[in-house]
Amino acid sequence: MDAHVLTSYLEQAQTISAGKLFGTFFAIWLSYWITIGVYRVYFHPIAHIPGPRLAALTFWYEFYYDVYPHKYQYGFKLRELHDKYGPIIRINPFHVHIHDHSYLDTIYATGNAHKRDRCSWSHHSGAKTFSGAMLEAMDHDLHKMRRNATSGFFSKRNVQALEPLIINTTNRLLARLKQDMTRDIGEGGQGIVNLNCAFAAMTMDIISEYCFGEGMNSMERPRYGKQMLDILHMGLQMRPIARQFPTLINWMFDLPPERVAYLSPEIVVMNEFNAGLLARITKIMNYEDGSGEKAGHRSIFHVFRDDPEVKLPPEEKEPFRLMAESSVFMGAGTETTARALAVTIYYLLKEKDIGSQLLQELKTVLPTKDSKVSLPQLEALPYLVSTL
Ligand code: HEM
Repeated sequence: MDAHVLTSYLEQAQTISAGKLFGTFFAIWLSYWITIGVYRVYFHPIAHIPGPRLAALTFWYEFYYDVYPHKYQYGFKLRELHDKYGPIIRINPFHVHIHDHSYLDTIYATGNAHKRDRCSWSHHSGAKTFSGAMLEAMDHDLHKMRRNATSGFFSKRNVQALEPLIINTTNRLLARLKQDMTRDIGEGGQGIVNLNCAFAAMTMDIISEYCFGEGMNSMERPRYGKQMLDILHMGLQMRPIARQFPTLINWMFDLPPERVAYLSPEIVVMNEFNAGLLARITKIMNYEDGSGEKAGHRSIFHVFRDDPEVKLPPEEKEPFRLMAESSVFMGAGTETTARALAVTIYYLLKEKDIGSQLLQELKTVLPTKDSKVSLPQLEALPYLVSTL
């Protein structure tokens, strides 16, 4: 065989084998996904749960509503799907969604009889910054240990002990609102206040005082709690994409700040927020920050540091782990209650008969502007306990 013929033969063989190789890989890849698809739709343990076939087949269904081309719409789509398929539906290859409140005690069952791990998909856990939080503990026993260490802080008795703090912060909010009623605060006109931000200032200062023994000075900020609220919203808005691409997002969260700045300025801001929390916790755990004793209550992390009743191994008391816990407390304790208050006030003002009825009832326990009222007195009012 002469040299030319040999070269052209080898070239041809190379081309054929590259093409063949690609074809083989493609066929394997395709067969793999077809097998997965058939398994998910027909043989998966939740295959019998009603719901759209496409949702059972692929996560791209959820992506379509939550990430692109729609955004944050899957929750609303689920309502439509419940109308069509019933109270228990399959919403993606792994998950069911239940729209039936009688199921609450089954899902949130306590005790070891119902021992089950949580699923990292829905919480998108994994980034080092957040993985220390109770919310991010997927293992049943780890979650239980973290939860047991904190649940006492949110008992009715302990929350009631926060009454002076809550009253004091509410008074500061009222004083600030009074000022803003008469001056231009640059939010579209004189006396106009964004209630979400105003209540977020209040709730954030309360939960921050409870966590660390010091507030966030939100009431002194020009736009109340807006800056912090924006950071919390960034985190929440990242969840749908983080659920779809957890490895990528976790990797980005764990990058050093100078590198992640190129990819996501939002993550930089969130990590800076967490770094601020870490600094506070480190000070507390290193005994550089007093006892945290304030008007009848002690801060959560001072108790973590000092009280032998808080049963956690030393690694669970590391500042970095507690930073994640505090980050969830701050987020969970701020946005939820602030929004509930803002929406309530909106409807009380809009539905005048409801507003005035509540006002009449309140006057029975608060006859003058300076009267003082306790929580049990408020809780006994018919409108507030829905006994009408
Ligand atoms: C309107 C008020 C609130 C609502 C509607 C609300 C709702 C929720 C929901 C739906 C969860 C998720 C449960 C799960 O998936 O397992 C949760 C978890 C949590 N919430 Fe709230 N929440 C509110 C107020 C608060 C407040 C004031 C705090 C105080 C810090 C708080 C702290 C937490 C914590 C720490 C978790 C994680 C619990 C765990 O992993 O076991 N929440 N909340």
